[in-house]
Amino acid sequence: MFSSPIRCLIHPSTILSPCHQLSPSTLHLCRRSNSWWSHVEMGPPDAILGITEAYKRDTNPKKVNLGVGAYRNDLGKPHVLPSVIKAEEKLSELNLDKEYLPISGLPDFTASAAKLAFGDKSPVITEKLNATVQGISGTGSLTIGACFLRDFHQGPKDVYMPTPTWGNHIPLFKRANFNIKQYRYYDPKTCGFDFPGALQDIAKIPEKSVILLHACAHNPTGVDPKLDQWKEMSNLIKQRNLFPFFDMAYQGFATGDIDRDASALRLFIQDGHRVCLSQSFAKNMGLYGERIGAFTVVGSSQEEASRIMSQIKIIIRPMYSNPPLHGARIASMILNDSSLRTQWLKDVKEMAQRIIMMRAKLRNVIESEGSTRNWQHITEQIGMFCFTGMDKSQCERLTKEFSVYLTMDGRISVAGLSSSNVEWVGKGIHAVTK
Ligand SMILES: Cc1ncc(COP(=O)(O)O)c(C=O)c1O
Repeated sequence: MFSSPIRCLIHPSTILSPCHQLSPSTLHLCRRSNSWWSHVEMGPPDAILGITEAYKRDTNPKKVNLGVGAYRNDLGKPHVLPSVIKAEEKLSELNLDKEYLPISGLPDFTASAAKLAFGDKSPVITEKLNATVQGISGTGSLTIGACFLRDFHQGPKDVYMPTPTWGNHIPLFKRANFNIKQYRYYDPKTCGFDFPGALQDIAKIPEKSVILLHACAHNPTGVDPKLDQWKEMSNLIKQRNLFPFFDMAYQGFATGDIDRDASALRLFIQDGHRVCLSQSFAKNMGLYGERIGAFTVVGSSQEEASRIMSQIKIIIRPMYSNPPLHGARIASMILNDSSLRTQWLKDVKEMAQRIIMMRAKLRNVIESEGSTRNWQHITEQIGMFCFTGMDKSQCERLTKEFSVYLTMDGRISVAGLSSSNVEWVGKGIHAVTK
């Protein structure tokens, strides 16, 4: 009999009696106490998936799901980018095989992903300082990064994250044996960036610690530092001798301009930082389920980058051997074919602009309803998410009374708004905040 926190409360002789004589609950208890896994407790459901489940159960025809972090078109439908459709057509004409990729991924993809992030003329590219591998979207790329730092970073195993940050950052770095620390980021009073707070906290971070930075379109707040604020942060991070880890999950999605969205990362490179970077093509190419991303470490020389690359491959090999093919082929074709690339830049811009327009409409509806609160942050924040500033009880009312689903921290996915529901959502927000 295995040791277990749940004991079988019946006499052992009863266990020998035929199973059909036991009540289902007694049978369940006995089975549990006899199992290898009786000590495994039920974990909490994923917060975001739980919202989608509740949304599905709701029968109100006006229901709106603003919980999911995936783009929707103005009809509220998932969107496959025209550039992606064309790339897939071209790929199917090529009749390619399905052989394994190298451990580090599709070379044409990794080369073009690095150029997209750092810029063609960056010394990182021209001097071949980057060790770039394909990752399983942003999450997998971050995981490779956390494991690389776990094995090779020579500073404290502390990673400083903005408060708040994307929920997955925390367990992901914890599993790589990092201590999770924080620096101030979001100011609830202004629903904006707490620049003085961030600087004060960063100034106290012990030397050689890792600092996690959202390159653009910060999730969950939608609050990004301005370029001159990034400049000051870069100087301070240099002065403190911290190691910057950029998470870039939304390049192009924030402003509609891929170069502008990469400007914080490029500024750090110009300032002489040696960074690491995770990229995701889930949002900016709409390739969510294809799981395509990249992870880069910037070394000090080409020779150093090749040593780093050899170790990243050793980390990847026992994880999943080599990455999936299809998303890498799509992304690579889009980035390397000039007409597809032009189409893609247009596609990204269209998505970003629809989001920017929805922000303006939402603010307009709330203000037209007569709200006396300041809603400027709705249009000042950027990217897919908006931190509305609503508290938990207001969020609960919005869900209960208006069937508008969102996370209880007040975050809404602006991509879930459309011409047909923005009025309803705006009115609901006003009703629960007045
Ligand atoms: C800040 C941030 N990083 C990384 C990711 C990774 O997403 P994925 O693994 O789907 O590329 C996300 C997705 O929501 C994100 O918001």
